[in-house]
Parts: sequence; structure tokens; C-alpha cells
Amino acid sequence: MTLTLSYSNPSLKGTIQVPGDKSISHRAIMFGSMASGTTTVEGFLLGDDCLSTISCFRKLGVGIELDGKTVTITSGGEASWQEPSEVLDTGNSGTTTRLMLGLLAGTSFHSVMAGDESIAKRPMKRIINPLREMGADIRGRQDGQFTPLAVQGTTLSAINYTLPVASAQVKSAILLAALKAEGKTVITEPVATRDHTEIMLEHFGAVITRRNGSIELEGGQKLTAAHVQVPGDISSAAFMIGAALITGQSEVVLTNVGSNPTRTGILDVIEQMGADFDLKERAVEGEPSADLTIRSSKLNGIEIGGDLIPRLIDEIPLIALIATQAHGTTVIKDAEELRVKETDRIAAVVAELSKMGADITATEDGMIINGPTPLTGAEMKTYGDHRLGMMAAVAALAATGEVQIDDPDCIAVSFPNFVEQMNSLIN
Ligand code: S3P
Repeated sequence: MTLTLSYSNPSLKGTIQVPGDKSISHRAIMFGSMASGTTTVEGFLLGDDCLSTISCFRKLGVGIELDGKTVTITSGGEASWQEPSEVLDTGNSGTTTRLMLGLLAGTSFHSVMAGDESIAKRPMKRIINPLREMGADIRGRQDGQFTPLAVQGTTLSAINYTLPVASAQVKSAILLAALKAEGKTVITEPVATRDHTEIMLEHFGAVITRRNGSIELEGGQKLTAAHVQVPGDISSAAFMIGAALITGQSEVVLTNVGSNPTRTGILDVIEQMGADFDLKERAVEGEPSADLTIRSSKLNGIEIGGDLIPRLIDEIPLIALIATQAHGTTVIKDAEELRVKETDRIAAVVAELSKMGADITATEDGMIINGPTPLTGAEMKTYGDHRLGMMAAVAALAATGEVQIDDPDCIAVSFPNFVEQMNSLIN
């Protein structure tokens, strides 16, 4: 089904609570399934990716009940998981696939994981290599590079590992495997990535030591059930931020948005571009969150690269779009990881924004955008990638003419009802 969007100088006003954080929602299900007792999760993201995680843990025998955005997980702990009689379907979710590899590697049973067409193309060796060093028995196409993956659970031993790619998924898979391994695991991160796993490990009672870019975890630790409060997802908020910035006379309030510093690169970027916004931190336990007020702004092009990239990796399609409306040149570099996301996001963003009239060029590790350029209606492809779908919908606000989006359903991976919510802000 194609979605057609057409606006005439829209102005956005109002308050929105964006859906729960995707990374934290996945982890809450995983940690609640590993812990003994009853874990409750509030503000859970009812997006397709996190529902895939729930379905996988149900197949391991964990009791998981959903009541609106509240999830109750009743588990006898990791030792009570059962060998699944079906393939664990991870859908479109890289986080489910990769983090679960770390968990399944240390069980005493056999399991098979597979996802959709996009998952079947995403690199898994980055996870399997360190897990194999720990003793894991994992098989898959091209020596384990691609799904479907078969895991024969076994005894694991600790490792010392320096991450070759800045990836929270790799770090997290090793940390989860390390919980069951014999000995002390030490992971070194040359560049900091999101630390939701570390925060949640402590929240569920594990002891970890974090110093100077390294994390130490002693194996054999058991987790205790906990209550998890999930803040709004800053990666989802980013699209509302972009919508307010590039439309005239807009003022949007986004309440309770996660403001973990490993995720707020988008705020650093819009500040440097000259955006008009206020941030009010809220007092919460565990993961920090804030209320954000964002207004229409005249933006300038900037250079984005280095250590900032992992702090905004999922926001780059949206940043590219706002750069088309900024004055001057925006250069995005050091972002070659975009080539192995849900789709090749460098190629896809450049192809789709070019169709609308943007002056945008792909480079090996990023893109160069000259602005401002007027945007015109076009037939936009999502490549089955939720963030490409939202980029196209936000671009429609600033475009003249009709924007058609070929597969809007994929947006539900991280932000169900995104277009309805965005439209509800239009006066
Ligand atoms: C995620 C880590 C990032 C991010 C993804 C979610 C996570 O991936 O792009 O959307 O929840 O740990 P990488 O670890 O591949 O960088």
C-alpha cells in the first residue's frame, strides 16, 4: 500500500510523548527473561522489532504478558529456559538477533535464529568471532556471517576483547555471554557506544566495573527481577525534531525523551547548526530523560564525524534531510557503518533525497549535502527501512507537491502511528 502525503506550508504545534526507547525495550525483555522472578516494564515500545524479541523469549518458555505499554515477565531465570521447537524469528531486528546470540551461546540447548530479507544480509561475524573465542558453537551461511544461524549451547569462558567496530550490539552480546562464562571478561571500547546494557546490568543487580573505556564483568552472576521505566526514544523524537525545525512557525514539546549522553549526538548537531530548542532534564532513576521544546529554525551546514557518529548513528537519515534545508555545506564522515544497517543507508538516503531535488552526494563513509534546496514531491522508496520511511514523511512537510511512500508499514518497526502523530501537530 502506498501512502500519499501533501502539505502546504504546514506549521507544527503541540505536545507529543514519543514511543518508548527501542534499545531499552529490547534489553528489558531480555534481562527480565534472564532474571528469576517477576519483572515489570513500563513505557515499553510496541514496535514490531520489540514484539519480535517478546515472541522469541516466549518460544524459550518465558511468560510474557502485555497490557498496553506495560509488560510483565515471569521467569524462573535463564536456567529454566527450554529448547525451542521452532525457529526463533527475529523479524527485522538486528538487536534481537545479535544480543540473543550472546544469550543462546551459553545455554545447554540447540536453537535456530532467522529473520527477514534485510536481516539475512546483515553481518553477524562481528558477533560470532568474539563468541567463538569464548567457546561458542554457532553455524551459519559463509562460516556464520549470515542468518539463519544455528546455536548449540555450550560452556563459555571469559575473554579480553577490544571492539574492532564501534557497536553497542557487539559489546552487549559479549557482556550477556560473559554473565555465564567462567572468569572475568574485559571489553575495551576505542569509541564509546550506547551503554544501556551496562546500566541495565547494574539495575538487575550485576556487578560491573567501568573505567577508561573498558568494562569488566565477572562470570557466574545471577540477575534479580526489577522494575524498568522506559523513556521515550530519542531516535524517534529526532523525526519530530526535524519536522519542527524545517517547517515555519512551529513549536513542538516532546516529553520524557531519553537523554542518555551516549545517544544525544543529535542534540549536539542541531545546536551547532543553530537550532532554537530548550531541554529540561527530569529526575529519574537509571536512564536519564528530559522534556524538549523545539522551534522552527534557520540552520547552518556543519561537519559531523569522529566520536560523535556512534552517538547519532540512527539519526543520520534525518540529519541528511535537515541539512538539505540548512545554509551551506554539511559533511557527514566516519559513518561507514551506515552501509550495513537495515539497508545501505548512505546509498538509500542519497538516492531518495536526490529524487526530491536535494544536492547530496555519497562518499565511502558518509555524504555531502549543499543547502538550502527546495524539495519537490517524488515517489519515495523505503527499502523496508523504518527510518527511510520517516525521513520521507518529514521531507513531505517541506516539499511542494505529492510525496508517495511505497511501504509505509515498515515505520511500525520503531514508531507505530508516526504519520498520524505528526499530522496531529499540524494546525
Ligand atoms: C543498537 C545499536 C546500534 C544501533 C541500533 C540499536 C542497540 O547498532 O544502530 O539501532 O540497541 O544496541 P550497532 O551496534 O550495530 O552500531
